[in-house]
Amino acid sequence: MSGSQQLWDDVDDYFISQLSPDDDTLRAALRDSEAAGLPQIAVTAAQGKLLHLLAQLQGARTVLEIGTLGGYSTIWLARALPEDGRLISLEYSAKHAEVATRNLARAGMDRVAEVRVGPALESLPKLADENPAPFDLVFIDADKANNAHYVEWALRLTRAGSLIVLDNVVRGGRIADAGSGDPDVVGTRAALELIATHPRLTGTAIQTVGAKGYDGFALARVLG
Ligand code: SAH
Ligand code: DHB
Ligand code: MG
Repeated sequence: MSGSQQLWDDVDDYFISQLSPDDDTLRAALRDSEAAGLPQIAVTAAQGKLLHLLAQLQGARTVLEIGTLGGYSTIWLARALPEDGRLISLEYSAKHAEVATRNLARAGMDRVAEVRVGPALESLPKLADENPAPFDLVFIDADKANNAHYVEWALRLTRAGSLIVLDNVVRGGRIADAGSGDPDVVGTRAALELIATHPRLTGTAIQTVGAKGYDGFALARVLG
């Protein structure tokens, strides 16, 4: 662990208590996720609030999430939507999806948010076949090896002005290693290259430190 981790934790504790305190529902979602043995890799409350603000800034009515886990980020995003909004979250693990579905119901978000079980690369074509209204925001946070595929799908399922957010694009700095054989790094570098070169995408990536260590987000705006 980095020698600075304690300081990052202290600052995150301060920011979160000031600006994005969690409530009983969010705490219960994390507690039940942990009790069910899910990995403790949900976004922090500060990051969840960022997703919430980004959805509000988008004026989002529809959100697509890839990678649900226990539904913690899902709740932050769903709470930014109007009552008739719609969030679809794709999750590989039936167990994770079950925990998330319970957490969303307790949060009162089960009318807005829906979890679909299966490998996202199978769920996405099925979703596209339904011709859904374009998603205003897509949050990509699943298996990083497929990040470029997820950005391609996000492009197909969005509109000019939509926002695509990728989590975990830094991973302790490993992203900078052009020769990396780590499939997560390779997949994320391919996603960033797609954002850089695609005529309908413009984006950036920002490094972050905090309770989840040294990592970062990429943001991409879909152009007309
Ligand atoms: N967004 C969540 C964290 C997601 S963790 C939060 O911040 O609260 C990543 C999740 O992606 C895990 O639950 C994992 O099971 C799921 N996942 C992994 N591979 C996947 C795939 N191919 N399709 C869909 N989900 C996948
Ligand atoms: C991991 C995955 C995540 O989405 C995350 O935010 C942190 C860690 C992981 O697979 O280790
Ligand atoms: Mg993540």
